[in-house]
Amino acid sequence: MHMFRRFDKPGRPRRPSPKRPAVTREVFEVRIEKMVQGGEGMARLPDGRVCFVAGALPGEFCKVAVTFTKKDFARGHVVEVLEGASPDRVEARCPLYGKCGGCSLQHLDSEKQAEYLAQVERENFRRIARIALPESFTVHTGPAWGYRNRARVVVVCDQVGDKPIVRFGFRKQESNSVALFKNCPVLTPALNEFLQGKAREIFAGKFRPGREMEVNLFDNGSGEISYYYEGMPASEFNENAISVAEICGKKIETDASVFFQSNLALLPALVKSVRDAVDEGVANGEASDEWLIDLFSGVGFFAAMLEDKFKRVTTVEREEKCLQHAKVNLSVFDGDKKAATIENVSAPAEEWLARNVVDIPATLIVDPPRTGLPKEALDAIADSSVNRLIYVSCHPVTLARDTALLAEKGFKIRRAEAFAFYPQTPHLEMMLVLTR
Ligand SMILES: C[S@@+](CC[C@H](N)C(=O)[O-])C[C@H]1O[C@@H](n2cnc3c(N)ncnc32)[C@H](O)[C@@H]1O
Repeated sequence: MHMFRRFDKPGRPRRPSPKRPAVTREVFEVRIEKMVQGGEGMARLPDGRVCFVAGALPGEFCKVAVTFTKKDFARGHVVEVLEGASPDRVEARCPLYGKCGGCSLQHLDSEKQAEYLAQVERENFRRIARIALPESFTVHTGPAWGYRNRARVVVVCDQVGDKPIVRFGFRKQESNSVALFKNCPVLTPALNEFLQGKAREIFAGKFRPGREMEVNLFDNGSGEISYYYEGMPASEFNENAISVAEICGKKIETDASVFFQSNLALLPALVKSVRDAVDEGVANGEASDEWLIDLFSGVGFFAAMLEDKFKRVTTVEREEKCLQHAKVNLSVFDGDKKAATIENVSAPAEEWLARNVVDIPATLIVDPPRTGLPKEALDAIADSSVNRLIYVSCHPVTLARDTALLAEKGFKIRRAEAFAFYPQTPHLEMMLVLTR
């Protein structure tokens, strides 16, 4: 009793420990009904509960190890495909498949992944938003491997005698442990080359032996690698974290500490779709070329790609560091017409929208983080004169939720496209055009 009291905060009642899902080792034989969000197969256990099965494909009859259960669902993974192996099943290419927590879709033929994920998103929209995605909904695809130009890796430093040993790994999902790798097949060749060569020199001696440090890496598409770690001195940051990527003929400044798109090979397809969506809105009168508002603008990426079409451009981004880059990206003349007035704001997008009256049919583009649009932002959009919204999202579940809320305010899906930015993983980038 005394032992427990010592650790209690005085005057505060002890909180009951949170209920953990029961960990089990049970094995079942089940038929996989379909693929669901997250890339898992969905099956029913003999007691009727839904079970999400990693590594399974629709139609397969599998032996499944259930690893944890809750009252209404369970999770597990395939032990063996007993019968009806999917014709789309392939051997996983990476030795870390199932271990590092990334690339959980490697057992599915790369050529088929977009088709499966499109089906998952169609169902997400029906289930979450009660709205059907248009028939024309398509997924743009790019390289299946060697595409990822941005990554967070764990640098593991050790010492044997007086010789520093530097290794690299990924933090496993929902775990603190590290899966070490020598070559990651989804990273760009330039990033792999950097990790196998120069990175060892850079990080040897920088971090104390026995220490693990998370480092952000960015390949600007021309083979130049920039990096960032917490506590990086300013001089090293200026020299090694900042870089410039050329996208659709425009130079975009960024740094390895902030968000940037991670599939440069497919990014021009998204830029083209966004530019087409803007042109269509201006041409049909639903939006105007008076004002472009780019919310959750990061380094001002979409604004920089679109500014030649507008008289006034506003970017809104919470991260102060992004704002500095946005100022550069929207003020350096590199060939195209510039917007007449440019305003870069550092503020939460929802607060900016609530404070500023948007009383003309401005063109609005939003690209929020995985959590989607905050409620205040959705309300402010509904109360504004915006009749055409371009919504770019890296998380179709929150996109479907927000679409349902915007539909209550009169918005309808005019156009839906997806971009296979993250092959071998169940993630998909989407762009919706919503009008009212
Ligand atoms: C998915 S990124 C998009 C960035 C940019 N559109 C691009 O393509 O590079 C989301 C951005 O929103 C910013 N962010 C997150 N919450 C925000 C908020 N409440 N208000 C403004 N910006 C926010 C993040 O810092 C991040 O830069």
